[in-house]
Amino acid sequence: MKKLGIFAVFLLPAVLGQPAAAGDVRAELMALPLTPDLGGGTTRPVATNDAFTFIAGNAAEEHKPVFARGNAAFIAKWDPAPGPKPDFDGLGPLFNATGCIDCHVDNGRGKPPTGPEDNLASSLVRVSVPGLDPNGGPNPVPVYGDQIQPLGLEGVPPEARPEVRWSEHSGRYADGTRYSLRKPRVTLASPAYGPFPKDTMTSLRMGNPVIGLGLLESVPESTLRALSDETDANGDGISGRMNIVFDMATKMRKVGRFGWKANNASLRHQNATAALSDMGLSSEMLPIDLCRKEQPEGVEAARKAKPAEGFDLNAEHAEELLVYMQLLAVPKQRNPQLPEVQRGETAFRALGCADCHMPTLQTGPDAALPELANQTFHPFTDLLLHDMGGGLADHRPDNLASGTEWRTAPLWGLGLTQKVNGHTFLLHDGRARNVAEAILWHGGEAERAKENFRTSPKAVREDVLAFLGSL
Ligand code: HEC
Ligand code: HEC
Repeated sequence: MKKLGIFAVFLLPAVLGQPAAAGDVRAELMALPLTPDLGGGTTRPVATNDAFTFIAGNAAEEHKPVFARGNAAFIAKWDPAPGPKPDFDGLGPLFNATGCIDCHVDNGRGKPPTGPEDNLASSLVRVSVPGLDPNGGPNPVPVYGDQIQPLGLEGVPPEARPEVRWSEHSGRYADGTRYSLRKPRVTLASPAYGPFPKDTMTSLRMGNPVIGLGLLESVPESTLRALSDETDANGDGISGRMNIVFDMATKMRKVGRFGWKANNASLRHQNATAALSDMGLSSEMLPIDLCRKEQPEGVEAARKAKPAEGFDLNAEHAEELLVYMQLLAVPKQRNPQLPEVQRGETAFRALGCADCHMPTLQTGPDAALPELANQTFHPFTDLLLHDMGGGLADHRPDNLASGTEWRTAPLWGLGLTQKVNGHTFLLHDGRARNVAEAILWHGGEAERAKENFRTSPKAVREDVLAFLGSL
């Protein structure tokens, strides 16, 4: 899309609707009008605190009972084996939480700890040392692996206690209004299995909302390739690129779509990784134990708790969880008719936000489920990695993503965050306390869009926030 200065917001709104040049995927998608059905046919007109928990509006009858069973596995509190509910036991020996829902709170997002004394209740810390694992992924820290498990079954020492400390940094809008942004620093206290290597890298991550993921999974790889612009050939200052990761579901290298750095290619693999790394559940895809030989209490506990046959997360539940993740509905946009929402959408595009937060994507005929095929929908992401500058950097590479690159976060459902989660902490580590702070943290490829926002008149900024609040 052509970059427009701030004044263009007021002078040239007509330019935004220009017809696309044939063959230009980006221009064609940009030219499609926004509709309140943000999730295409999967959309549901819901705006209550359980708005992220509904099945897709177009779900087939046959998928409804499967979805319900997937929901049961997602909200279950898992017990150590043998537990009172044989379907949902096998937790640990090391783990972060006892259920998926602990971090994907009401299918929305987690929140960061308030300070060093607070636990990571709905977030986690990834770790690695320089180098790559055999699949090209992050190089695990010896003994500890690639994620800290701060909890253990009885007799199994937790790996460490992540502590988060915040520092404030002040800034000003161009009109003089002051703001303050806060940044986390993570340390790993009480390591139970020896000191961490000096070059250990950490990355604090919030659980993300899990709506509309089946649609994101079904966008053809060819679209993402067409949207990526690694060398910034179109000269717009934005050079999104794909993360390419090893997918356990297909045993192939594929384009990454899930996680804050697009570090997972398929929901099947993402779910299995979550089950293992976050809750210690083995599965057919990852039939391994979390504990290393240097963690003997854990190895022993895992041996005792091994199911007689199958895995902690059995094949049937894995399949049901997959359908659940694929068919969660996207809530309908609210108040699209309000003038401030309409002006906000125009400004969102004119400021350059839509260059990464692509308003419209489409799925093709080949989708994971028929409900997801041939959909036009509005996720506000290009699923690509962007250099967001030093401010947001975690300095921890993840597959092809560098320490400064992040996947464009989808913005559908954003306006329901307060209602669903009772807070508005945003960004990968939850540092932003509201939408404006999230925007003000943008840098790197998004520096220009951020500056456009920071230097806009208050009325324009409020329109943008009204628009985002309607999503
Ligand atoms: C301890 C917290 C925690 C638990 C428990 C947890 N997750 Fe997650 N989940 C996360 C975080 C953090 C991310 C982002 C990961 C990243 O950036 O690498 C994530 C990402 C995801 C995603 C990708 C979402 C997206 O928008 O890209 C899916 C799907 C998912 N988790 C499913 C599950 C399932 C299924 C379970 C239960 C088996 C589960 N999670 C348990 C924290 C958690
Ligand atoms: C160069 C690409 C790019 C541009 C341009 C851009 N963003 Fe983003 N945006 C991102 C990425 C990447 C993230 C995730 C960053 C992170 O979590 O650290 C993000 C995150 C966000 C979030 C937080 C979402 C969440 O789930 O936590 C909001 C809100 C947002 N952007 C709004 C905007 C607005 C408004 C504009 C225009 C002023 C804009 N962005 C411009 C790439 C971009």
